Amino acid sequence: MKKRYTLEQKKWDSPAEHAMPEHTRVPASFEIGAVKIAPATVLAPMAGVTDTVFRRFIKNASQFTADSSSTDVESAQTNQQSGCGLIMTEFTSADGLSRMRETKRKRYLTYYDDEHPISAQLFGSNPATLADSARIVQDAGFDLVDLNLGCPAKRVVACNGGSGLLRDLPLIGTIFRAVRSAVTIPFTVKFRMGWNDNYIVCVELAKLAEDCGLNAVALHARTREDGYTGQARWEYIAAVKDAVGIPVMGNGDIRTPEDAAAMVEATHCDAVMIGRAAPSNPWIFRQIAQYTASKEATGVGTYDVPTDRDRYRMIRTYFQMLVDEIAIEEAAEATRAAAIIASGQIARDQRHRDAVGKMKQFAAWFTHGIPGGAGLRKAIFEAKNGNAVLGSVEAFFESRTNTLPQDFEIEHDTELDAAPAAWG
Ligand SMILES: Cc1cc2nc3c(=O)[nH]c(=O)nc-3n(C[C@H](O)[C@H](O)[C@H](O)COP(=O)(O)O)c2cc1C
Repeated sequence: MKKRYTLEQKKWDSPAEHAMPEHTRVPASFEIGAVKIAPATVLAPMAGVTDTVFRRFIKNASQFTADSSSTDVESAQTNQQSGCGLIMTEFTSADGLSRMRETKRKRYLTYYDDEHPISAQLFGSNPATLADSARIVQDAGFDLVDLNLGCPAKRVVACNGGSGLLRDLPLIGTIFRAVRSAVTIPFTVKFRMGWNDNYIVCVELAKLAEDCGLNAVALHARTREDGYTGQARWEYIAAVKDAVGIPVMGNGDIRTPEDAAAMVEATHCDAVMIGRAAPSNPWIFRQIAQYTASKEATGVGTYDVPTDRDRYRMIRTYFQMLVDEIAIEEAAEATRAAAIIASGQIARDQRHRDAVGKMKQFAAWFTHGIPGGAGLRKAIFEAKNGNAVLGSVEAFFESRTNTLPQDFEIEHDTELDAAPAAWG
């Protein structure tokens, strides 16, 4: 069934401001099973957002050149490294995947060589189906497979997937064992603290994961009932870290490099996972890496703050990547049998609509904080196709470069105001 997303208002609730801790930084690397993740930063799975184009866009935006004295850069190879250590697909239904024809599966599990290491996230509640799907993921060449136990969406919870499972630890144990014995790649789980404050299971769940041979856990430190309200309760990440020996990825409310380091300091987590901040500040991973590298090299941590011009390049690059991806998919389709020309046309139109939808969604996130951003959002929302969107972006920044100093600084962005309703 085709996924449908609607946009809704979504903000961080009065976000906490953190100072950069004096002595703690985001670790340079960590290991999940035999897979080395460097640096210890992870792009959180986000349905409707973290497709292959967005993932590669973030990896590229995170490229940085570190000082040669820094230990976390493989300078012998390129002296360039992505500040984003691990990327993940959006969640994929295990039921759907195991029923799909081969060609359709490929579309769901599309990724490019430069995305390694990459993890595929599954959701579902049937142990055998999840095990089958994990095998498909492994055969497709993913480096890791992840189980989603955090999704609060009603349609996922209704069939016991996502955070619905948090009420049934014995079933989770059965799923863990079934998937574990089905694959040899590292297996991880991402979960919320529990169903609600009366039913917090994160420590028990993390121990169960470790006992069943999982290689790492990720905690979004809120309950299912919290949705996205209030502050993520990082103390529960600390409690999970205390309880298990496998790596713990901390997740929830990181918006700045300062927040990332503060989470490490407060919880001793092995890695930080970042979701909503990525589309509104695609530089966040690079900023974290720059801070770490400069602090190691010189004792003083610094990171670049994007200028208006950087923003223009960033939005243009992402939109161009979306347009290019359509061309790649169309070329692949053209080589298939002529018999599917008619249905191919439908797929083509749909793809164009999807790409324009993504441009509009990204524009809603990305243009907050740009002076005059509301005007750009309006122009983008009124555009009918990809080229018209690109044209309005160009016209907007063109008019601004005529009126603003080149290094005009953007306002700091604190909100993400559009997200699939599925994420409540
Ligand atoms: C638009 C959107 C889609 C999401 N989709 C997924 C998903 O597919 N799988 C998942 O485990 N979490 C999903 N999440 C939750 C995020 O991965 C993350 O746990 C949450 O946003 C908290 O992290 P943050 O404060 O850094 O955003 C989604 C969140 C958003 C905003």
